[in-house]
Amino acid sequence: PRTAALIVAAGRGLRAGTSIPKQYAPVAGRAMLAHAYAAFAAHPGIDEVMVMVAEGQQAMARAAIGDEAAIVTGGVLRSDSVAIGIEALCDTADRVLVHDAARPFVPSVVIDRVIAALDDADGAIPALAVADTLTKDDGTLVPRDGVYRIQTPQGFRLPILVQAHAAWPADEDATDDAQMVRRVGGRVALVQGDVMLDKVTYPEDFAAAEARVTWETR
Ligand code: C5P
Repeated sequence: PRTAALIVAAGRGLRAGTSIPKQYAPVAGRAMLAHAYAAFAAHPGIDEVMVMVAEGQQAMARAAIGDEAAIVTGGVLRSDSVAIGIEALCDTADRVLVHDAARPFVPSVVIDRVIAALDDADGAIPALAVADTLTKDDGTLVPRDGVYRIQTPQGFRLPILVQAHAAWPADEDATDDAQMVRRVGGRVALVQGDVMLDKVTYPEDFAAAEARVTWETR
């Protein structure tokens, strides 16, 4: 099967507090988006990479990932950006991996796991079991058994992802695509995630992400 990667980089990235949008801020020597793009572009199981960028940020995106990269303008919500990306793909893709540019370091083994799991499921998503005790703000304990932190890249068979986006209410935001695919009855498998994939959202996350790449070479 032909597998495409969609990298969503069209968010405003305001919580990061950087002077330029966070996906173009440097981490470990390169723009965040450049790391994620390179991981998918170099992976032998990925046939096509499409990047969604915000209006007016094309020049920054080109500076980060070059003139050859396939870039389209994203939408208002993350789910809009994914839908626009799906439309822009070649008709020949059978599967798609959707990835947040806010997760710059993508171990190739996680891409392998996601792709492999799609042989038996409609979707496959990287997950990490929660180790900490979980409570609500009033102290009520939340049982952590069976509770996972969900990351990207999230892989799907393309037809069900298209169906899920068509069925999703236009004004409802979704933080990931797996919940959309489940709502139309898709079976989504969990695969082992990786702390390298943790999202860079707040200012302090940049230093933590840099520390992770310095510790590990993959
Ligand atoms: O804002 P947040 O960090 O949750 O966004 C997750 C990912 O979705 C980011 O990589 C961001 O650039 C992307 N996004 C997008 N289009 C939007 C909103 C977010 O591509 N309208």
